[in-house]
Amino acid sequence: MSRPSPTRFAHAGRDPFAHHGILNPPVYHASTIASPTVADWLDRERSGFDRYTYGRIGTPTSDAFEKPIAELEGGAGAVSTSSGLAAITTALMALAQAGDRILVADTVYGPTRRFALQVLARLGVETVFYDPLIGADIDGLIDDRTRAVFLESPGSLTFEMQDVPAIAAAAAARGVTTLIDNTWATPLYFRPIEHGVDYVIHAATKYICGHSDIMLGVVVARTREQFLSLKRTQVMLGQCAGPDDLYQGARGLRTLPARLARHQESGLAVARWLQGRPEVARVLHPALPDDPGHALWQRDFDGASGLFSMILKPVTAEAVAAMVDGLHLFPIGASWGGYESLIMPAFPERVRSATAWAADGPMLRLHIGLEDPGELIADLEAGFERLRLADAA
Ligand SMILES: Cc1ncc(COP(=O)(O)O)c(C=O)c1O
Repeated sequence: MSRPSPTRFAHAGRDPFAHHGILNPPVYHASTIASPTVADWLDRERSGFDRYTYGRIGTPTSDAFEKPIAELEGGAGAVSTSSGLAAITTALMALAQAGDRILVADTVYGPTRRFALQVLARLGVETVFYDPLIGADIDGLIDDRTRAVFLESPGSLTFEMQDVPAIAAAAAARGVTTLIDNTWATPLYFRPIEHGVDYVIHAATKYICGHSDIMLGVVVARTREQFLSLKRTQVMLGQCAGPDDLYQGARGLRTLPARLARHQESGLAVARWLQGRPEVARVLHPALPDDPGHALWQRDFDGASGLFSMILKPVTAEAVAAMVDGLHLFPIGASWGGYESLIMPAFPERVRSATAWAADGPMLRLHIGLEDPGELIADLEAGFERLRLADAA
């Protein structure tokens, strides 16, 4: 399957004429789903997940979000969760058993690491963090206890690209399941199932919903069997998303290509400008030709979103604060993917365990929103002036 066109994002999984021609599907608020007869009641017990039985388990509103995203990712089915982190934890809980070992990229989103170390460890699952650049050599870390390999590409703090097909192939050859956090790229720019991955996870909170007002997660499974195992776990964990949030997820998919194209274009404009600044040591953005991950990004991805980082040349913490605190268009915030730009100090050296993070200067992560990139650059330019003055003081 090639890159899904904006037309597919606009139309995937829709059926307006099932709802009187109303273009957007109605929102079903449901807990109880009643049966008219005893025979019907008994039938639903036999029907598995093929019909609606209870609000937590599935409704036409969860279908309206899950079906298009499964289609766009090229998977057999999807389950939605109350947040992106819940999507990660549900997928891992569907797989890992006491005595298992899972391999997790050293660059993963911090709460993924904490869940592995603080919850899975309590349940007897060991986590080994690996160098995200390991590629096919992941094979050397796989043993009889290895159940799953978790990837995130690019890592959402330091933006190392992983060789996803090489890792997925090495894992599959040893019967090991792969999962990936694909929040950064969305199915518009990367479809991991096409590259051999089993489970694709999204914090729909970010670009899919796109307005910084929704918490929502989703996991897409490659096969029907994997979907059913995931679905059973979701149900047993009591995981579900609220109907209004699911509606916003489905709605967000329709405009995702238009928004992401703009995030990409403005993000690259700002990233290139930052590369020319004397205060900046390095810009970490895989779509830049001199980025170490560029070749992998170019080979596997169809685009880049608006999240990247920069490493400043060594300056005082006070100078960084003077720069960041005075920005007008960049609130300090972590949850990217909305229409607005954000900035955030980041400290990868505090969390890594498998690889060392060596940078002489401080790191700032930026999310480039839908504003005018020229105005964003002007705001950052004034920030660099404050940084320079504060550092000289
Ligand atoms: C890469 C990545 N994955 C998952 C999550 C978790 O999503 P949520 O905040 O919806 O739980 C985040 C949130 O920042 C993230 O950046």
